Amino acid sequence: MAEIIDGKKVSTDLKLELKEKVAEYGKQGISICLAVIQVGDDKASSVYVRNKKKACEFIGIKSLSYELPESTTEEELLNLVKELNERDDVNGILVQLPLPRHIDENKVIKTINPLKDVDGFHPASVGALSIGNKGFISCTPYGIIELLKRYNVEMDGKECVVIGRSNIVGKPMSMLMLRENATVTVAHSHTKYLKEICKRADILIVAIGKPKFIDADYVKEGAVVIDVGIHRNDENKLCGDVDFDSVMPHTSAITPVPGGVGPMTIAMLMKNCVNAVEIQDIKGKTK
Ligand code: GUN
Repeated sequence: MAEIIDGKKVSTDLKLELKEKVAEYGKQGISICLAVIQVGDDKASSVYVRNKKKACEFIGIKSLSYELPESTTEEELLNLVKELNERDDVNGILVQLPLPRHIDENKVIKTINPLKDVDGFHPASVGALSIGNKGFISCTPYGIIELLKRYNVEMDGKECVVIGRSNIVGKPMSMLMLRENATVTVAHSHTKYLKEICKRADILIVAIGKPKFIDADYVKEGAVVIDVGIHRNDENKLCGDVDFDSVMPHTSAITPVPGGVGPMTIAMLMKNCVNAVEIQDIKGKTK
């Protein structure tokens, strides 16, 4: 019987644990503050930003909100980031993506102090992850590791196939699985024999961006399947990159959409904000 990996429950448990940790920090005189910047009024971004601020409030993290007009110049945004870099009372800086086309995203990400880069997007954070140094980790792949650990999925020595090579999911995911001693293959749009490669996987992580692309033909009997995709189908219902009904009976565990990977992303952002205390050595500084 396949186990359904309940990301909603894990994210709730994690947020409760973080709330306790933040309260403990509070008793030691340590408070945590996240600055959230949104440029323009992209609807999806507004929903994400609102949910991030709500999660902060629940956990006891202070959030500063910067809602800037679409017309904001790159220079204005860079100046705000630099100002927040300098502020001792700000521990995390998050610039919601996508940014308007006239602003260079990479330039903005590179301007964030890596010690405050709670999204884990800065080249220094990515580099730290790849060589096993301390640093922030991109929230979605970090959340997938958390799910696998909490469901006692063995990663050491297992064949893991990651489909997708984006900077936000596929690449950091492969690094994290490597760190867990899995044997990792990264497949992408140019990969030949995708079915055969996927069928090797003990753990199949799918971030392909195509609704219900992966069916039972891609999955080894008893594999663990993680679905990162989220789409709305013709009936306005949410679905993932994996055809859940076809794949589920062949797995030992699988994440649903919705309620699998999705809820973990914000929970892991909160974990990164709490990790900032260690990464910035705030405890050392208050002594
Ligand atoms: N846009 C969509 N997902 C994300 C995310 O995780 N972080 C940021 N900064 N922007 C996003």
